[in-house]
Amino acid sequence: MQFSKLFIGAVVALVVGLVEGVPTDDSYPLVISKVVPMGEYNLTYWSDAPGSVAGPNAFAARACSGTNDMTCSGSHKATGSICQQLVNSLNTNSGTVIGDSPRSICLGQSGNECCVSWSAAVGSMPQGDLFNAANKIFQDCFGSTISGLARNVNLNGGCVTECLSNRATGCS
Ligand SMILES: *[C@@H]1O[C@H](CO)[C@@H](O)[C@H](O)[C@H]1NC(C)=O
Repeated sequence: MQFSKLFIGAVVALVVGLVEGVPTDDSYPLVISKVVPMGEYNLTYWSDAPGSVAGPNAFAARACSGTNDMTCSGSHKATGSICQQLVNSLNTNSGTVIGDSPRSICLGQSGNECCVSWSAAVGSMPQGDLFNAANKIFQDCFGSTISGLARNVNLNGGCVTECLSNRATGCS
């Protein structure tokens, strides 16, 4: 009896330890590269921290179907109306070039942001390149709050997962 209680306690401790030990997408370092006021909000551009390894799914050149395969998510949901403004701005200001290892763009204010993010650094590009997949997520996952991702997105020659969510580090 005493033994089995100890054993169960040890198993629980082990499982808790394993769960806590799992690295999350939050663990990779991003730095703000630029903040641009837009309407009542700020548009914040995030990049990989200098010298950091790019993201959890480091970019590898490979064939990309570019099919933007959609999955809507129930976690890390962002305010739909802010996502709409963000997606619109990717289209309206499509020629704005985002440089220096960009990883995500967020619109909003502290604690209430909608972010478009992608799974690996693919270099400098016009932000309009992000529009198609972001708009597809917006349309397909439409609601007062939105979170979703598109896989097999061809972005600047890289094959990435693109996300729309409430955080700069991805939506999974
Ligand atoms: C926008 O950014 C500026 C400077 O970082 C800050 O002072 C201001 O409060 C921000 N505005 C919003 C709406 O978050």
